Amino acid sequence: MKKDPSLQLSASRFNPSEVAGKKVAIIGGTGGIGRALAREMATHGAHVTVVGQTFRDAGVPNIEFVQADLSLMHEARRVASSLPAETLDLVIFTTGIFAARKRQETLEGLERDMAVSFLSRQVILQGIAHRLGVQLSKGHRKSRVFIMGYPGTGQAGTLGDLNSESAYSAMSAHMNTVAGNEMLVLDSAQRYPNINTYGLNPGLIKTDIRINLLGGNKFLFALLEGLIGVFTPTAETYARRIVPLMLNSQINGFTGTLFNNKGQAIHPSAGLTGAHIRAFLTESRTLVERAVDSQVA
Ligand SMILES: NC(=O)c1ccc[n+]([C@@H]2O[C@H](COP(=O)([O-])OP(=O)(O)OC[C@H]3O[C@@H](n4cnc5c(N)ncnc54)[C@H](OP(=O)(O)O)[C@@H]3O)[C@@H](O)[C@H]2O)c1
Repeated sequence: MKKDPSLQLSASRFNPSEVAGKKVAIIGGTGGIGRALAREMATHGAHVTVVGQTFRDAGVPNIEFVQADLSLMHEARRVASSLPAETLDLVIFTTGIFAARKRQETLEGLERDMAVSFLSRQVILQGIAHRLGVQLSKGHRKSRVFIMGYPGTGQAGTLGDLNSESAYSAMSAHMNTVAGNEMLVLDSAQRYPNINTYGLNPGLIKTDIRINLLGGNKFLFALLEGLIGVFTPTAETYARRIVPLMLNSQINGFTGTLFNNKGQAIHPSAGLTGAHIRAFLTESRTLVERAVDSQVA
């Protein structure tokens, strides 16, 4: 990951009152990093809607829950149409899994990691982008979208088989989702001038995301995450660090910027040319259409 010195944020003291009253949707806000972000913002008075499968914060003030299985594209479309995009200040995508050792397929015929970690985000963003913030008061800044993944790490994705049908490896399936999310940031910055879109790379953080990768082996999982936990910040520490960036007015003119785990701007991965991004996102949209049609037929 290479730092991008063209955006230097001057140290500004974070004022928690900036969070109060903000309307926030966190897709994937029920677990891990998304949950930590939801709790941090809700503590400071934001109204947070979390989307996921299992609600773990019932009774926490200012957090509402929308249940959805985002491995399914028709569910992603339902979530998009039900979100009050017109009044949202922030939308954060943290939905994710790690591909399993053996290819898993959703009821709509999609490789599961690709469906949850990337395609559902593309569908939701496409469904809300034009409505985002249109009812925010005049003079109010544009709605912001933050897409979390692993940007800036050199993943450009491999075209031609995004559904991993002809060949499968957990790592290449997952890396296609990493590349897709970075491209979604870069493309959205051009495609949706009415909003500001940013990418987030949280670095390694102890969460549940790697359980699939280890084939559900609880011992290995506890060992690995225990080690990660010793050397890296917790999700809560990362959330306290990154929430001020999410509200920082200095990033207003910098739609499309990617940030590392310290909130510093980083360069996009090499190879993400306009033509490559268009080809990747066209292929992924076609995959979604096929998945949704498979249920209609
Ligand atoms: N943790 C790391 O070390 C690390 C490193 C680099 C990048 N990242 C990125 O950070 C983001 C968040 O990861 P994390 O570590 O916080 O993961 P996590 O703890 O596993 O949380 C993932 C979130 O996705 C939701 N989710 C998973 N499957 C879903 C489904 N079928 N339908 C709806 N929601 C679903 C989970 O909700 P439920 O629990 O309710 O299903 C949860 O809210 C991901 O984009 C990941 O790639 C993480």
